[in-house]
Amino acid sequence: MSALGTTFVLAILTAAVLNAAVLCNGGVTSSFVRKVEKTVDMPLDSDVFKVPPGYNAPQQVHITQGDHVGKAVIVSWVTVEEPGSNTVLYWAEKSAHKNKAKGSLTRYKFYNYTSGFIHHCTIRNLEHETKYYYEVGIGNTTRTFWFTTPPEVGPDVPYTFGLIGDLGQSYDSNRTLTHYEHNPIKGQAVLFVGDLSYADNYPNHDNVRWDTWARFVERNVAYQPWIWTAGNHEIDFAPEIGETKPFKPYTHRYRVPFKASGSTAPFWYSIKRASAYIIVLSSYSAYGKYTPQYNWLEAELPKVNRSETPWLIVLMHSPWYNSYNYHYMEGETMRVMYEPWFVEYKVDLVFAGHVHAYERSERVSNVAYNIVNGICTPVNDQSAPVYITIGDGGNIEGLATIMTEPQPKYSAFREASFGHATLDIKNRTHAYYSWHRNQDGFAVKADTVWFFNRFWRQIDDSTT
Ligand SMILES: *[C@@H]1O[C@H](CO)[C@@H](O)[C@H](O)[C@H]1NC(C)=O
Ligand SMILES: *[C@@H]1O[C@H](CO)[C@@H](O)[C@H](O)[C@H]1NC(C)=O
Ligand SMILES: *[C@@H]1O[C@H](CO)[C@@H](O)[C@H](O)[C@H]1NC(C)=O
Ligand SMILES: *[C@@H]1O[C@H](CO)[C@@H](O)[C@H](O)[C@H]1NC(C)=O
Ligand SMILES: *[C@@H]1O[C@H](CO)[C@@H](O)[C@H](O)[C@H]1NC(C)=O
Ligand SMILES: [Fe+2]
Repeated sequence: MSALGTTFVLAILTAAVLNAAVLCNGGVTSSFVRKVEKTVDMPLDSDVFKVPPGYNAPQQVHITQGDHVGKAVIVSWVTVEEPGSNTVLYWAEKSAHKNKAKGSLTRYKFYNYTSGFIHHCTIRNLEHETKYYYEVGIGNTTRTFWFTTPPEVGPDVPYTFGLIGDLGQSYDSNRTLTHYEHNPIKGQAVLFVGDLSYADNYPNHDNVRWDTWARFVERNVAYQPWIWTAGNHEIDFAPEIGETKPFKPYTHRYRVPFKASGSTAPFWYSIKRASAYIIVLSSYSAYGKYTPQYNWLEAELPKVNRSETPWLIVLMHSPWYNSYNYHYMEGETMRVMYEPWFVEYKVDLVFAGHVHAYERSERVSNVAYNIVNGICTPVNDQSAPVYITIGDGGNIEGLATIMTEPQPKYSAFREASFGHATLDIKNRTHAYYSWHRNQDGFAVKADTVWFFNRFWRQIDDSTT
């Protein structure tokens, strides 16, 4: 064997030994080594940013759930040349009758940028499990899209969610979206855990990059709802250029049905979809005791009827359990406030982003700690959620590669690669979860788990 060969074998052995050592401490730090490349934004003239043809053509079309139970859809789009029409025409696949819904128009300025005409229109009283076509831009140029409404809410209704976070608009972002689109486990709606466009990384938060992002993701979000969570890149707080209203571009462009769940702000709200109850929280709004978000969540958790929606899922941007060196402990103060509730109400899964990598935790809690008792180590807790960090969409800031060592016990699997995940809910007890890295073929699963519902079946989840 050549010297090089010997070194190679030694390296593999060392890696195996290291891996075993890591296993003793905690979970698995994946041995997959991603080729390190710079993450670069797609240039403005990229195919994915193309403006649709035609005078005043609607662009940046996107949809999200429009009510609490999935019988409404919010349709949003932008026209550039003139306001155009606020009306959406829509019809069920098997119906000749075209319905009309009237929306509203908004626009905003940000430093020296002026947005296009932003339209939002809520279509209500839709039938469940029905394919609808919809047409926007009635007038000079129209475009037609479609979506399928979810089945009526119920405990054993199967449903498949995609999970994407921190997407941005780099070549890697495009790979992530492409992998999601071609994943044979067909996602029906995306749970998006925050940090959309990363426009704020450009000089003066160049809001043109909000427009390009929306044109880039239209190919998916015009056809299936993305459930929005606000991340730090949505804040766009820039007093140096006179922009002091947090979330200005985000709230003008993205609407959520927050009032339907009794929320008083678009940053925290809930929806039911199929067999899932999804609570969206805001890491960047006040969450301390007596704050609007705190009061809302305190009243919200007891409302979840697990006989109706067994799967209780929480989305937030900043993770509570994170063993990367990036954003370390940023989620800690919110964890201190809300974790006892998550254990009490047996939340199944918590998805977060922010850290640009992937990590899945064991079912752990750290609720015993009260400062004086010093009990500050997370413990296994079968009433606790699994925490998943999925901030690996592929944005311009690049990967978070440095991890805390040794891998803590609560960390079950971690890997610094870009990708997305799917959560395939089968019935009230079983959900099949898988994470997909962008380097693999579309069907390859890099981390898989059967999650057993915390309310209906409190046994250990099984990795497959
Ligand atoms: C906004 O200002 C920046 C520099 O301050 C300039 O480069 C840019 O072209 C301006 N954009 C518009 C739309 O005026
Ligand atoms: C667009 O439509 C409006 C009303 O239908 C019409 O007045 C206007 O001339 C049209 N503009 C173009 C450029 O076709
Ligand atoms: C983005 O991905 C799609 C495939 O899904 C491809 O057609 C397109 O050329 C890609 N664009 C860029 C700029 O990478
Ligand atoms: C919970 O949901 C079940 C199933 O839909 C229903 O029968 C029951 O009445 C609900 N309970 C409450 C308290 O609303
Ligand atoms: C729930 O789904 C799992 C996985 O598909 C299956 O094994 C199980 O039998 C199902 N339970 C019921 C009650 O249908
Ligand atoms: Fe973030």
